[in-house]
Amino acid sequence: MSIKELKSELLKIAKVRSAISLLQWDLSTYMPPKGASWRAEVLGELSEYAFFLFTSERMGNLIEKAQEEAKSELELALVRLTRKDYEKYRKIPLRLFVELQKEKAIAEKLWEEARKDNNFLILKDSLKKIVKMVIDIAEHIGYEDNRYDALLDEYEPGFKTSYLKEICDYMKRALIPLLERVESSDLEKEGKGSLKKGSFPIDKQRELIQRVISAFGFDLYAGRLDTSPHPFTEVVGLNDVRITTRYDEADPFQALLAAMHECGHALYDLNIPKEFFGLPIGDGASAGMHEGQARFWENIVGRSLPFLTFLKPILDSTFPSLSEMSVVDIWKKLNTVRRSLIRVSSDEITYNLHIIVRFELEEAMINERLSIEDLPYAWDEKMNEYLGIRPDNHRNGVLQDIHWASGHFGYFPSYMLGNIYAGQIYWKLKENLPDLDKMVSEGNFKAILEWFKENIYSKGKFFEPLEMIKAVTRENLSPSYLVRYLEEKFLRNPIKR
Ligand code: CO
Repeated sequence: MSIKELKSELLKIAKVRSAISLLQWDLSTYMPPKGASWRAEVLGELSEYAFFLFTSERMGNLIEKAQEEAKSELELALVRLTRKDYEKYRKIPLRLFVELQKEKAIAEKLWEEARKDNNFLILKDSLKKIVKMVIDIAEHIGYEDNRYDALLDEYEPGFKTSYLKEICDYMKRALIPLLERVESSDLEKEGKGSLKKGSFPIDKQRELIQRVISAFGFDLYAGRLDTSPHPFTEVVGLNDVRITTRYDEADPFQALLAAMHECGHALYDLNIPKEFFGLPIGDGASAGMHEGQARFWENIVGRSLPFLTFLKPILDSTFPSLSEMSVVDIWKKLNTVRRSLIRVSSDEITYNLHIIVRFELEEAMINERLSIEDLPYAWDEKMNEYLGIRPDNHRNGVLQDIHWASGHFGYFPSYMLGNIYAGQIYWKLKENLPDLDKMVSEGNFKAILEWFKENIYSKGKFFEPLEMIKAVTRENLSPSYLVRYLEEKFLRNPIKR
């Protein structure tokens, strides 16, 4: 009985969150821009209400009662996960939560302005306030060794900063030399043919994307594909997961890659057991595990030679101007390794170095070893140290990501961990499905999706990410698998690059 009561209270909150998600989705896609400020207030009000419900005395009592009754593994997991979040959020004063929501809305606007004007000073004071509040929240939540642990746990449950630093050191030692080796290899870099000759109408691009994501297993009756300046995935409700992409009429691959990424997120969300929906267990294992799925479909599948072999005839019939590019030409175009300033358009090797720059800076800010005044300079220094290039301005440097203005400290590592999880899981998948490349080149993704359902999606949030990796691969987490994948792809690929 009490388990049932706890579930029904959690589902009530999930319904409020569904309303928030739909309003958020609308805000980011179709709403008239002048309506945005009232919408922000509505969202703030509803988020406060959801937070209030979740941290109420009533919830505490329901958890206590459910705890006595819980027997099955699933019931125990439900109580454990709810209690963990409850105890954490109870420590955050409602006043602080509300203030941060308000400042975030201000900072995000200032970030846009600062970016347009290429001037960090516009954002500086607001960002200072955000960092102070986030530190305050971390202090309320508590931690053992490192204040950053309190923030990291929100996105990667069970992860510690000290362990993450070890992983970053390993990645730097492996990737900086790998980058040099790829650059100095005498393999041909650019493919023949270019996109310049064609124009790629958006309608046609959308059709192509719908074919690809349907082949991956995305159910267009349980989701939508729309357009937004920053692609995202939003779980609006049960059997309603929406993705977006952005189109460039001069290059059809940008929208396709972004859509395959978001499709990876959506496949995870859509295949978590329906009976978990709206409960703490009805989520991915972590932000990084989610990101890993997105990057698996975008990079490991989407940028691979077998996938492009499958795609080629569809591409040619959709865009005849592309027929002069061979599969290998396209592969080269999508897999150019280059030291660049912008994270979102970087390749599979340097992407991780971009993340390490951000993680080291935010960890230093949270522990007050780096002041906001010094942030732009510190950014440029680290970029130069790890990537060997120095941003020419703030827009291409410290102002390129919205995350800090949005108060998301502790999130960046999930992107890199996602790559690492995906790399390790990929080798296991290949071992279990020896015909993997053949299946992909024939456009047959069913067995891959089934494997993910069985091994990852069906578990919801039952495991923490490190436990999940162990359960799936029978080994502890090791970034060496990702490095091996990158070496094979960029150095030992049979095609002359
Ligand atoms: Co993502």
